[in-house]
Amino acid sequence: MSKLLVANWKMQLTIKESLTLAAQFAKIVKTTKNEVVICPDYSALSFVGPILKKTKLTLGAQDSATDNRAALTGEVSPLNLKALGVKYVILGHSERREHLHENSAIINRKIKSALVNKIIPILCIGEKLTEREDGQTKLFLNEELHHGLKGVKIKTASDLVIAYEPIWAISTNKNAKPMSPQEADEIQKFIRASAAKILKKNVRVIYGGSVDEKNAVSYLSQPNIDGALVGGASLKANSFAAVVK
Ligand code: PGA
Repeated sequence: MSKLLVANWKMQLTIKESLTLAAQFAKIVKTTKNEVVICPDYSALSFVGPILKKTKLTLGAQDSATDNRAALTGEVSPLNLKALGVKYVILGHSERREHLHENSAIINRKIKSALVNKIIPILCIGEKLTEREDGQTKLFLNEELHHGLKGVKIKTASDLVIAYEPIWAISTNKNAKPMSPQEADEIQKFIRASAAKILKKNVRVIYGGSVDEKNAVSYLSQPNIDGALVGGASLKANSFAAVVK
């Protein structure tokens, strides 16, 4: 089955480096049955977009604003992202929740705003190590889903994606260690069912957190893992190409 593979470049590259990496991916990944989404930072979108146009790769953004037009200094409108050819947008990433104090109410508005513009939101949810150690993982994820998806309406199952990223497993976090694929699968089964109850659609659930070329197959072969959100390993053309293949 086709998987959704999303490269999250975060704020790790200059525009020039983004262009080079996009061109390298495009060269290596000529054919794939998977859907591959490249998410550069805002400043590189208009440069990377044209490179991806003639390829199998799709353009994504790492965030978008709550409104199409507003007095919101520094924000970027989903209307303009759409005009740049953005098809997917990562929303509610744990780094934005933690460092930029983004809460579920804001994320919920961003999801609705993306959907109005026909951009597919990738809603990120994930527990901290403390919640895991307290045995609160599922309770916490269920709450993030309910708050993030409150009042969200989608027409088809492919209109929205959930990305499950246990925060403690994200490679840049202190003492990060990957979650076992079996446990990830079990939790994603729970997320799938919970999201289906809220949205009345069986949306895709992808996994993120230290996914790389060595462990990708073990995650992607699990029945409840529809793809991967890849950070660190997406910054090297060969590593991400290996994940895709
Ligand atoms: P990682 O990042 O693959 O480097 O763990 C994933 C993410 O933060 O989306």
